[in-house]
Amino acid sequence: MKQTKGGLPQQKDNQTEKQKNVRMSNIMAAKSVSDLIRTSLGPRGMDKLIQSSRKEVVISNDGATIMDKLNVQHPAAKMMVDLSKSQDIAAGDGTTTVVVLAGALLNSCIKLLEKGIHPTTIAESFSKASKKAIEIVESISINLDLSDRNSLIKSAKTSLNSKVVSQYSDKLAPIAVDAILKIIDPQFATNVDLKDIRIIKKLGGTVEDSELVDGIVLNQKVTNNAGGPSKIENAKIGIIQYQISPPKPHMDTGIVIKKYVQMDRVISEEKKYIAKILKPIKLAKCNVLLIQKSILRDAVTDLSLHYLAKSKIMVVKDIERDEVEFICRTIDARPVASPETFTQDKCGTAKLVEQIDTGEEKLVIMRGVPNSGKTVTVLLRGSNTFMLDEAERSLHDALCAIRSLVKRKAVITGGGAPEIEISMKLGEFAKTIHGVEQQCFKAFAEAFEIIPFTLAENAGLNPVEVVTNLRSSHKQGNKSFGINVVKGEITDLSNENVLEPLLVKVSAIRLAVECVIMILKIDDMVATR
Ligand SMILES: Nc1ncnc2c1ncn2[C@@H]1O[C@H](COP(=O)(O)OP(=O)(O)OP(=O)(O)O)[C@@H](O)[C@H]1O
Ligand SMILES: [Mg+2]
Repeated sequence: MKQTKGGLPQQKDNQTEKQKNVRMSNIMAAKSVSDLIRTSLGPRGMDKLIQSSRKEVVISNDGATIMDKLNVQHPAAKMMVDLSKSQDIAAGDGTTTVVVLAGALLNSCIKLLEKGIHPTTIAESFSKASKKAIEIVESISINLDLSDRNSLIKSAKTSLNSKVVSQYSDKLAPIAVDAILKIIDPQFATNVDLKDIRIIKKLGGTVEDSELVDGIVLNQKVTNNAGGPSKIENAKIGIIQYQISPPKPHMDTGIVIKKYVQMDRVISEEKKYIAKILKPIKLAKCNVLLIQKSILRDAVTDLSLHYLAKSKIMVVKDIERDEVEFICRTIDARPVASPETFTQDKCGTAKLVEQIDTGEEKLVIMRGVPNSGKTVTVLLRGSNTFMLDEAERSLHDALCAIRSLVKRKAVITGGGAPEIEISMKLGEFAKTIHGVEQQCFKAFAEAFEIIPFTLAENAGLNPVEVVTNLRSSHKQGNKSFGINVVKGEITDLSNENVLEPLLVKVSAIRLAVECVIMILKIDDMVATR
């Protein structure tokens, strides 16, 4: 810090050198994160392999996932990680776009700061410009009807196109759309609770074998050591939260049996005890029994399994506590906490309950459930865990894209078309204003070119040429022209089915600008204990 004669820090534009340094170091740290993720934007974007300190390996293209796994230290870089997370919560998709855009806006900030423009002025202008930018995307959006399944599938496909599992987008897109359409009423819905969609991952087969189950899939397998059934038609399903086994003593105790008679008594006591527990279950004509997991004692014993098998009752144990509510809602059942309260009306129903074998693992599927429409389950299959985990993340993005459309029923064409439109229109608007604000608006408009620029760069095209051509075709009024990464040229992307939800883009712009303004306004960093 330069000192003046009087010992006071030298001031220039009311800012000390330290303030400038802090601001610049924050901008640089945040920008480096954005540069890192830039190569994974778009359908031709690269994937990242991240190895955690615990040697866990994740391969992903999902912005939020990559950012989450990065172990960044700088507080400003952490703000970019949070930015990506916020977009994930608000829209689910566009988590790479938001970070890349923030990076470009920060770049514009550097240029403006170098010209001597005050950060507060930049922040105010950016805030105004972002409102204008949102107005522009809204003006080019097309309204969508939720009964238009094809358009919904196109949006889901655009979201899946840029993922590791993009070759399966034809399979996963309809699954995502149908899953959401099943749990909402397309006429009145304004939001979707994604908790009603359960995703079960199973190794074996390929993603192509994934399916949407109109019912429920349980991760557990049937316990049929004693030869009980593993397939039941017209099932009556009971969910119990107690165990069918004798209680265990609190302490380790030993019982010495000296005579056969005593042994007989022990066995007959156990038989009586178990028969008493099973009586109400049999009376209720329950033929599928789900038992909640307990660490206190065994769910079943050999003896109880033998009795259950004799009565042709199918048993699935180790049902997790947090699964119970979802299962109950799906099959229309109520959990039973004690043997005395087990009655017929608490049982749920399903047309068919069976165990299937994926080759690697076994699981239980219940089809034909009464509450079909309230919940659905997606059974995801994959040949290895990397693929399976990424398929789950990608499906989540596609589901979020559709949820965004339910929240706000409008789409825009992708492939850099909206960004170039914003850049151009804002550039034109900048000409109508004067002074410092004009410079800020211009720099803000230029930052939006980063998206088409990066899409082209990642697709192996000449980015400068592509962005120039894109600009000239938008100048001629072709608002839906974008980068066709497959053909390597600029075409009307509304014909290529590259549609994105409006909400995703609006939220990305809003959040990116908010984050940039926040970084810009920080002029000091203080570490406390
Ligand atoms: N077929 C396509 N042709 C051209 N551009 C496409 C195509 N499919 C998607 N895009 C564009 O790719 C961009 C989205 O890329 P990507 O999905 O990698 O990032 P994101 O959605 O921002 O982040 P994430 O999906 O990781 O949350 C959007 O700008 C979209 O318009
Ligand atoms: Mg995406």
